[in-house]
Amino acid sequence: MNTPSRQIVVMASGTGSLLASLLEAADRPDFPARIAAVVTDRECRAQKLADDRGIASAVVSLRDYPDRAAWGKALLDEVSRHQPDFIVAAGFMKILDGEFIGRYRNRIINAHPALLPSFPGARAVADALAHGVRVTGSTIHLVDDGVDTGPILAQEPVIIRPDDDEQTLHERIKAVERDLLVRVVTDFATKSIDIQGRKARLL
Ligand code: GRF
Repeated sequence: MNTPSRQIVVMASGTGSLLASLLEAADRPDFPARIAAVVTDRECRAQKLADDRGIASAVVSLRDYPDRAAWGKALLDEVSRHQPDFIVAAGFMKILDGEFIGRYRNRIINAHPALLPSFPGARAVADALAHGVRVTGSTIHLVDDGVDTGPILAQEPVIIRPDDDEQTLHERIKAVERDLLVRVVTDFATKSIDIQGRKARLL
């Protein structure tokens, strides 16, 4: 059995279906990373998935801090406690502050439910539907100081059906994201990254 060589912290806010696919992948002996902890910003199913597996979890809720700066510091401290080699934002719905991003520059992977640079932000699925595009999808990218602007690591399209609503479309996008994210995390853990301007390649 291989010993996983890389430590990951997964950050999430919601149902945690992307986290579930990572947890499942991490059960395989050849998966090259270990999920050291799951950090959320609220009580949510993602946190419960971690607890059920005996993986360290922590909720760092904005509500519990006097301001965003204090919350950001607590979040950074909590994540860093687990000494991650890299971080996966799998449906983490808050913006990370500059200090956090600076500490883990080019080591935070985010899953976004649209084909960036189209439809950045928290309403990506609704925005794609409202715009009337026929194809959307998933983007896995590095987090930089902008909102969903960092170098792209992988993308996969999803065709929009005429009768789609936000929920049906998002479910099909998530089905694609689960595999795509596991593939990118596997590559990220085993390859080196080459970044030239906007272009990132895992070699
Ligand atoms: C995914 O669509 C991801 O791209 C977005 O949030 C969703 C997370 O889904 N950032 P889940 O909570 O893992 O089910």
